[in-house]
Amino acid sequence: MSTRIPLPYSPKVLEIFRNPRNLGPMEDATIVESAGSPACGDMIKLYLKVGEGDVVERATFESYGCAANIAAASILTEIVRGKSLREAWQISWKQLSDELGGLPPIKYHCSILAVGALKRAIRAYYRAKGERPEWLPEAMTPEERQVLEEEEMIERYYRALGRLGGAQGEGGSA
Ligand code: FES
Repeated sequence: MSTRIPLPYSPKVLEIFRNPRNLGPMEDATIVESAGSPACGDMIKLYLKVGEGDVVERATFESYGCAANIAAASILTEIVRGKSLREAWQISWKQLSDELGGLPPIKYHCSILAVGALKRAIRAYYRAKGERPEWLPEAMTPEERQVLEEEEMIERYYRALGRLGGAQGEGGSA
């Protein structure tokens, strides 16, 4: 018998996890950005189709993460649709969590990962255009910082594991 205690996911998280909306790559995406690291399985890839007036016409995602990650990414693709990039920039991880009926605190980072990918996508879009609108801050937001810290932490971890493997003469990465 399993001794694992199931996480208190809301019915909405479970419903979206079972039937994610807008799942899969987008052939004609204007921007594709990801956040997280495939090394630990926590990763989201976001595809945005941006049209006239910098409005998001469509959004899809691929997720290599937990139920909360899938649900957060899925709800993000619904919320962002029809919004200008300026409006999309305001979407917070808390908003995603609220829309999902609340996430367990240990799963906040799954929502932060989704918003981090969105913010990266918005930055990438304007970088490609060679412009930065006045509402787009130069400094990283807390979500972007946290995503970066997680990625760096994972990289350090795997580098350390590689060194350990090398010392034992086995080498290779996970
Ligand atoms: Fe890391 Fe959910 S994405 S635990």
